[in-house]
Amino acid sequence: MSVSVQKIVDPVVLGEGPHWDDKQQALYFVDINMKTINKYVPTTGEHTKTTLDGRVGFILPVDGTDDQFVVGVERKFLVIQWDGKDGSTVKVVKELGEVDQDVPTTRINDGKADPKGRLFAGTMGCEDPPGNFDMEKGSLFRVDRRGIVKMCSGISISNGLAWDLREKAMYYNDSLESKIRRYDYDVDTGDISNLKYVFDLKKNNIDGLADGMTIDTDGNIWVAIFNGSCVLKIDPKAGTVLQRVPIPAKQVTSVTFGGPNLDVLFVTTASMFITEEQKPPCGSTFMVFGLGVKGHPNVNFKLP
Ligand code: BGC
Ligand code: CA
Repeated sequence: MSVSVQKIVDPVVLGEGPHWDDKQQALYFVDINMKTINKYVPTTGEHTKTTLDGRVGFILPVDGTDDQFVVGVERKFLVIQWDGKDGSTVKVVKELGEVDQDVPTTRINDGKADPKGRLFAGTMGCEDPPGNFDMEKGSLFRVDRRGIVKMCSGISISNGLAWDLREKAMYYNDSLESKIRRYDYDVDTGDISNLKYVFDLKKNNIDGLADGMTIDTDGNIWVAIFNGSCVLKIDPKAGTVLQRVPIPAKQVTSVTFGGPNLDVLFVTTASMFITEEQKPPCGSTFMVFGLGVKGHPNVNFKLP
């Protein structure tokens, strides 16, 4: 089977944080700049969205519910209730806490749940105008029943996040570092240690920034390349590129596997004006078929 790319959702400004909900067979994602949370159901083609009070960096369903989600809005982690309908009102169920009170210019960017359902999400410095970043102002946080803990600081753009339990690894990246990080991961405690760099974009002549990522069942990571019009399949043990999947949008922001067999790669993109206009289909979300690999079921957030 050859690789094919299908556009599924009309352009947004800063599409991000795709999460495949196995139970609902639906994709959730956000448009950070337009402050929307979005739901797309491939079997019906239905796309619904609603607007929040601030820029929303990610959305993850709360485990065991059909209508509750954890979101990162500006610098707050919130549990909200949304019925998934277009334009419907969102209720804040619980505030889990606010981060970066000492640097109130940051905002929460990408977030994911680890294999046990703990939330990991990071922040990034002010981006004004788009493409111009306040450096090393962000951090990575972990949210579980013990509260909110800062895991690393001095981060410019917190991105990536994927876990490999066999390798006891967590992959992560600060997009402006131009390298992909690997930490030893203790899944019993949620602690990270022993930072190593497993891939260097510059040394591999890759134009663009490492943005969101996911992992397949073979342990290879799939990395969205912002400003690079592609997704790269990388072997993190060898530090080599195994495949380049072209995407018809320059600003590729994040990826996740989904679909009934977890073999479709969902790709979000952005259409921000950085140096030039990004015409449609830039900013759309895409489905990539025929990659010949599978992902893991996406993990929902386990409410402490
Ligand atoms: C952020 C964008 C940023 C991009 C750069 C994304 O995760 O949300 O604001 O421009 O990373 O790679
Ligand atoms: Ca991202």
